[in-house]
Parts: sequence; structure tokens; C-alpha cells
Amino acid sequence: MPAKWTPETWRNKPIRQVPDYPDKAALSGVEATLRNFPPLVFAGEARALKARLGDVAEGKAFLLQGGDCAESFAEFSANNIRDTFRVFLQMTMVLMYAAGMPVVKVGRMAGQFAKPRSSDVETVDGVTLPAYRGDIINGIEFNAKSRTPDPQRLLQVYSQSASTLNLLRAFARGGFADLHRVHAWTLGFVEKSPASERFRELADRIAEALTFIEACGIKSELTPQIREAEFFTSHEALLLPYEQALTRVDSTSGDWYDCSAHMIWIGERTRQLDGAHIEFCRGVKNPIGMKVGPTVEGDELIRLIDLLNPENDPGRLTLISRMGHDKITERLAPLVRRVAREGRKVVWSCDPMHGNTVKSSTGYKTRPFDRILAEVRGFTAVHRAEGTYAGGVHFEMTGQNVTECIGGAQEVTESALADRYHTHCDPRLNASQALELAFLIAEELKASRGQPSARVAAAAS
Ligand code: PEP
Ligand code: CO
Repeated sequence: MPAKWTPETWRNKPIRQVPDYPDKAALSGVEATLRNFPPLVFAGEARALKARLGDVAEGKAFLLQGGDCAESFAEFSANNIRDTFRVFLQMTMVLMYAAGMPVVKVGRMAGQFAKPRSSDVETVDGVTLPAYRGDIINGIEFNAKSRTPDPQRLLQVYSQSASTLNLLRAFARGGFADLHRVHAWTLGFVEKSPASERFRELADRIAEALTFIEACGIKSELTPQIREAEFFTSHEALLLPYEQALTRVDSTSGDWYDCSAHMIWIGERTRQLDGAHIEFCRGVKNPIGMKVGPTVEGDELIRLIDLLNPENDPGRLTLISRMGHDKITERLAPLVRRVAREGRKVVWSCDPMHGNTVKSSTGYKTRPFDRILAEVRGFTAVHRAEGTYAGGVHFEMTGQNVTECIGGAQEVTESALADRYHTHCDPRLNASQALELAFLIAEELKASRGQPSARVAAAAS
């Protein structure tokens, strides 16, 4: 029986990835300020997302989660938010059309600012400084002042997240996401790509279907499913003082919710069974994600699941596997089998980004499109074989025309990486790569749909 939980019991547990704030009193002051600020999301919305993810766990919906590796103060603009949102809408149409089921949209947006690092320090030309840990902690510029953790940054993150969320809510409900505008979502620079051509054809079919259902007497003006989109936010719950400060009791249920986002997740580097991050997340009622990398073993995974989801509530826990294209089958299959055999209800989602990062010959961190695709294919194949659901995907992507991942139909080459390499952390898919990937995943989903898995077929025969 785990001990009693409060929003601060994580403080008594071993913790990793903690920034070294020189002025602890200033940090406490900022936490006190944040505790008095309004919540960014409402508990009822987090419950709605949990219900949608419950459908994903049962194979009745598909999860699309994505956005920046790290949001930043420098790249904060309405255009960036809009462009990521519309790539989301386009990918949603592609996946929904193929899978014939709702797509649950969750952005790595409006709060994704803290980054775990493999080393605490960075050395350049003989000078060693603290590593960059995301704009919520320190600055990316390589000098002592910028790299010193500054608590005031938490307030700027709160404010940027509030504005981002406000615009996302306006886009989702205010007409931008109306299905009648499906042709208008194509971004200028994507227009000439093969994925865009395919999207135009799909948009024609959607427009035709809309005309048809309106001819049947369904009034779009009265149908929110046509006029509006449902969009949720998420980020890695890494900087726990920030998360704790935004954690509130929900007056309708009496439960604790982390009101910094609808969903939060625990990263690969901070998911220790006895660690602070698991302790914090187990007590809030938001839907929780947990990254599952190639070193996780079955027993450990079951214990983590039971800590985070003791009531075996479908939709509460999303396991985001990030194995790498060459390890996915070997590492994922036994875990999926074990979780299913022990009757644990989870969403399985695939992050094909974090296990496939390589260094290009020109020195940039990049990810080959083919390996990203191979990991998704391996993921769906495992679930087909095990008779379980490939519930969703988790991408680092942007609506901007960046050159950070190599390959895809646009053929971003290693030498082109320098052209528009803007990420504050890991390399992201650009809009046309993201759309292309959605079409390729759609084909996988279509192939799986209605096809009994090898395991189910074997049991039936
Ligand atoms: C991330 O999602 O940006 C990340 C750091 O992932 P992981 O914890 O899987 O390495
Ligand atoms: Co990342």
C-alpha cells in the first residue's frame, strides 16, 4: 500500500534532472506567486481527455500527440501556433479517414518547456557551463549568465502557456477548424509536395461527403462535430516545483489535478519506481503518459503501471514506447504480451523519434525519416501479432518549413540540415514530412482494420 500522497510528497523522494538554482528563496517566491494564479486548464477537461483515451485503450479511437521537442520564448508567435495546429488538423483528417474512427488530438504545446539532459554540463572550447535545460530553466545562449537557472522563467512560461492555450481554444472553437475549411489548411510551402497533392484529393472527398450529409438534412451550424475541433495540451512533467504550484483540488470531485495541462507525461530518464516524478504523477488524476525505452523489463513495467494506475482505469495511463527502429520488435513484443496477459488496461502509443536520433556527418542531431517510419511499422506489426491495439503516435513536429530530419519525399539531405535548423532541442519533422508520415500510418491502419491478428486468428482456429 503506497504511503499517503500530497502535492509535495515528491520532495521526500530521490530526484533526477534537477536544476541547481543559486537563489532558493527566489524560487520559493515564484512558486508562491504561481499558486495564486488561475489554473491553465479545468479538471473537467482533463477528465474528458481521460474518457477519450479510454476509447483509445479499447481500440475505438486513435491518439495523435505531437508538437515541439521544446517550446521556446524566441519562437513564440501566433503564426507558429497556427501552423502547428493546422498540420494537426490535416493529419487528423488523413488518419480519421483511413482508420474510420475518431482521432484524439493532444499537443506538445502550451507548456512543453523543460528538457531532461544526458549531461549536467556542456563544454565548448574548454569552457564548461551548465547544460541548457529548456527555457523554463535557463537560456540556450552559451554564457554563464544565460545558463544560470532563473526562477523568473517559470512566470514567463505560465504567461506564454496561457496565451498559447487561449489561441488554441479560439482556433478549435472559433471557426478555423470547421470542416468546410478543409482545403484552406494546406500551408503555402507544403502545397507542392506529393503529400499535399494527396491531401487535396482527400479534402475533395471530405467536402463531397459534407455536401451529402447536409443534403440529408443535417445542419452543420448546429453540429459542433463539424464546426469545431477538440484539442488537448500536454508536456513532460519534469520541473516539479512548477507542476506542484499549478496543482489544485477540483471542487466538483475533490480530487487533485495538475492544472498546467490536460495530460502530463514522465520521461525516460525520470521514471524510477521510487523516484520523485512517479511519486508526483501517481497522485494527480490527469491522464498520465510514461515513456518506455529499450531497457524496461516486464516486472518493472507492471510495478510502474500499478503505481500509476492502481484502479486499472482505461485512459488513465498511456505507455509511450520509444525503442529505436532496430529494437522495437524485440523489446516491445514481450512487454505488450505481458501487460495484456496481466489484464492491465493501457493505451500503447509509439514515439518513433527519441530512439532514432543520430549525428549527421555535418555535426547536427538528426533523425532519418525512414527509421521513424520503420519504428511505427514495427510498432503496428507487434500489436497486430499480439492482438492488441496500436493506440497512437507521438511526434516531434512543427508547422514550419524546417530542415531537421533527413529524408521524406522532399528529400532533406545531410548537407541541407544547416538551411533551416531551428529547434531548441531535438530535430522535428517539418509540416510536409509530418503529413507524409500521416498518410503512411493511415495505410498501416487501413491494413490492420478488420484484419484479425495472428494471435486472435490462431485462438479461433
Ligand atoms: C521528449 O519527449 O522530448 C523526451 C526527452 O523523450 P524521452 O524521455 O523519451 O527521451
Ligand atoms: Co525531444
